[in-house]
Amino acid sequence: MSKSSDSISKWVIRRLPRYYRFLMELEKAGIAKISSAELAKKMGFTASQIRQDLNCFGGFGQQGYGYNVTALRAEIQEILGLNTRQNAILIGAGNLGKAVATHIEFEKRGLSLCAVFDNNPALIGNQIGQLTVRDISSLEEVCSSEKPSVAVLCIPKEAARNLADRLIALGIKGFWNFSHYDLLHHSDHIVVENVHLSDSLMTLNYLVKNTQEK
Ligand code: NAI
Repeated sequence: MSKSSDSISKWVIRRLPRYYRFLMELEKAGIAKISSAELAKKMGFTASQIRQDLNCFGGFGQQGYGYNVTALRAEIQEILGLNTRQNAILIGAGNLGKAVATHIEFEKRGLSLCAVFDNNPALIGNQIGQLTVRDISSLEEVCSSEKPSVAVLCIPKEAARNLADRLIALGIKGFWNFSHYDLLHHSDHIVVENVHLSDSLMTLNYLVKNTQEK
């Protein structure tokens, strides 16, 4: 019996995209079933961790059989909301915003990027993929027609600080926040994924340094 998605721990949810990626690769390679031990080896988890995590999603594992790759992938896909579409907007059409808008496959992640905004007249009207950069002054108009629930922030800290409440008032429920403004404690009803690439780099630096010192 699978648990309702509300009762699945946040830590399991955080691991789901990784399971999803691995299961997609297995499916592409034509693998129909996999044991928790094999999956653990591929993913660098323990078999018991995998069993505990995947037990949340019900009867996909059978003793002596393993997991049905397609069924488990489909279940995780559903739980991650990848079968539905939510509209997203991106703010800041600079270097990072352009890279995110161009290289992230929003559609495959359950989102549709419907508009990109900037306040720099030199960028407004530019084309990024299929989208034309819009003036930030048209935010209200676009949000009222497209009803985005997610905002991707690729703007400086100050701009994020100034825009956050405006975006929440326009119905934004989730921020994919690349700006260095900490949106974490903004509101209980808002979800935030802060992305700091340099955190990952500093962790790597620490690990390399400590490995060398041993
Ligand atoms: P950028 O200067 O190329 O782009 C920022 C864009 O935001 C500009 O086009 C600017 O006109 C626009 N902007 C500023 N205020 C605005 C407002 N109120 N409304 C609409 N648009 C506005 O900078 P870049 O390299 O794209 O970086 C963007 C931000 O992301 C920077 O603050 C940087 O520190 C941060 N960053 C974060 C990373 C992370 O891992 N979280 C990695 C790289 C950059």
